Amino acid sequence: MCGIAGYIGEEQAREIIIDGLKRLEYRGYDSAGVAIAGDKGLQIRKAVGRIENLEKLMAEEPVSGNLGIGHTRWATHGEPTKVNAHPHTNEDGTIAVVHNGIIENYAELRTWLKDEHGVTFKSETDTEVIAHLIGLMYKGDLLEAVFEAVSKLSGAYAIGVVCADEPDRIVAVRNDAPLIVGLGENCNFLASDIPAMLKYCRSIYFIENCETVLITKDEVTIFNAKREKVKRDIYHVTMDADAAEKGGHDHFMIKEIYEQPQGILKTIERRLDENGRVKLDGIKLTRKELSDIERVYIVACGTAYHAGLIGKYAIERFAGIPVEVDIASEFRYRNPFVNAKTLFICISQSGETLDTLMALREAKKKGARVLSIVNVVGSSVARESDDVFYTWAGPEIAVASTKAFTTQMVCLYLLALYMAAENGTLEEGQFTRVMDELKRTPELIREVLSRENAIKKIAKRIYKNENVFFIGRGLDASIAFEGALKLKEISYIHAFAIAAGELKHGTIALLDMDTLVITLASQTALNDKIVSNIKEVKARGAEVISLAKDGAVKIADESDDVIYIPECIDEVAPILAIVPLQLLAYHIAKLRGCDIDKPKNLAKSVTVE
Ligand code: F6R
Repeated sequence: MCGIAGYIGEEQAREIIIDGLKRLEYRGYDSAGVAIAGDKGLQIRKAVGRIENLEKLMAEEPVSGNLGIGHTRWATHGEPTKVNAHPHTNEDGTIAVVHNGIIENYAELRTWLKDEHGVTFKSETDTEVIAHLIGLMYKGDLLEAVFEAVSKLSGAYAIGVVCADEPDRIVAVRNDAPLIVGLGENCNFLASDIPAMLKYCRSIYFIENCETVLITKDEVTIFNAKREKVKRDIYHVTMDADAAEKGGHDHFMIKEIYEQPQGILKTIERRLDENGRVKLDGIKLTRKELSDIERVYIVACGTAYHAGLIGKYAIERFAGIPVEVDIASEFRYRNPFVNAKTLFICISQSGETLDTLMALREAKKKGARVLSIVNVVGSSVARESDDVFYTWAGPEIAVASTKAFTTQMVCLYLLALYMAAENGTLEEGQFTRVMDELKRTPELIREVLSRENAIKKIAKRIYKNENVFFIGRGLDASIAFEGALKLKEISYIHAFAIAAGELKHGTIALLDMDTLVITLASQTALNDKIVSNIKEVKARGAEVISLAKDGAVKIADESDDVIYIPECIDEVAPILAIVPLQLLAYHIAKLRGCDIDKPKNLAKSVTVE
């Protein structure tokens, strides 16, 4: 969601900024722009749509200079037009601002700037308010002006500012939206995320909330809210630069689907000791603390929330502790039973989802201990949690989450098994049975992936359907939700998921011969019940494609087609069952000609509430 890339150094800024913006494309955007400071003052170029449109414009109307900021905008205030695209400037065009986030008091500020200072606004954005505010405060010192201006802002934001009269500096501020500074040789970088600068530098500073940073070619100075200089440790990025490339695949999504076995293996290996027991190195959850926990709260959004539903099952079943799962954007606005005896688990791939971050802060205020399951090292959620359980999935670039989901489920299983071992709630035989099977999941997923052609065939048959239902029971109900989300977000097909037993309480009214029902039947213990559901659906004329384990004869007899996954215990079946649904969504979207890695209206990292 909105990307910021900035550069100051000895090279032409335009190429480096455009390259950085391209590496942030995964965040989602609908327009892009740059402000380059050079001999000709500030040169602003903006274009609607893809970055290629901006590049075309820059070829027709070239810019030059060794300092600049760039932006990809995901529209919030005002349509995705050229006028609304960032950067925005003050009235005389000497100060340019890019911004990620939402300024909540922008309407009051806009009125004040108009009425009291006669400011004329060009765009409908909240961002333009920042540019005018800085312009108003500017008395020859950009840093001072930014300090003054941000003291008037409320909301969540990361901003980058350049000034024609001070072409040797970028000033940036962070408040609840990600911002990092990269340290190069005779140059420095600004960005929303690491991939934007991975090609140029590996040493970075994470900018914290309410911090302002002054970036020159040779120096980076960070200030806290009281305008005092703060010292920050350098973080050395170890991420493989290739990990953020497609590596011969058509899309990041399919590459990431195929990376699941290795991601899971890494996630498991890092958490097992030489005796095959779960070790929570770096996580200070002692036996005593565990025995004090009365309730677990899992909070997340979207796909991560679906992993949470599986986590509820695992923790309740193995560790015998009651678990509540909540959508982060809802959690804050209730009065949840969270206190010092609550273990609050946040799940987030990006670690920057604002809804999740706000829920985390709310839980901390209430005294809960916060453990997060996060993929991005050093992200906001990770830094604000008491403990972090990293998923070692590697960078997930495609908007549709795949490998983060399977590794999140694996983390939750490991955590549940750890709790069970500490609490003595699972017999040794049961522990070994689940752990052994969990260790086998990378190999089982490889087997699922080897069956991609069968899924492609089904995709070909059904890709024109406009209405798909996903049903399942128990763990399969949660996978139904995730399967439907994958399909709708990348193929734009209407997909609806419901617990199979709930169908008859209303939703079945929608079924007829034009409906396709994907039935998840990976839970052998519930097979008889799901067969009855298939019969109900078939009786309404709907077509049924089931997902079942090898040899599930009864399911095959009742269904029009079956997607098979290898035999495994029911407890770990969700980790396998989602993979064919990811592949199915991918191939359907491909056949429909959709922009798979960058679906419309979506952003990878949702940094607004
Ligand atoms: C769907 C998807 C989203 C995210 C959600 C939370 O494929 O990716 O539903 O799961 O926006 O994002 P994170 O996990 O980064 O907090």
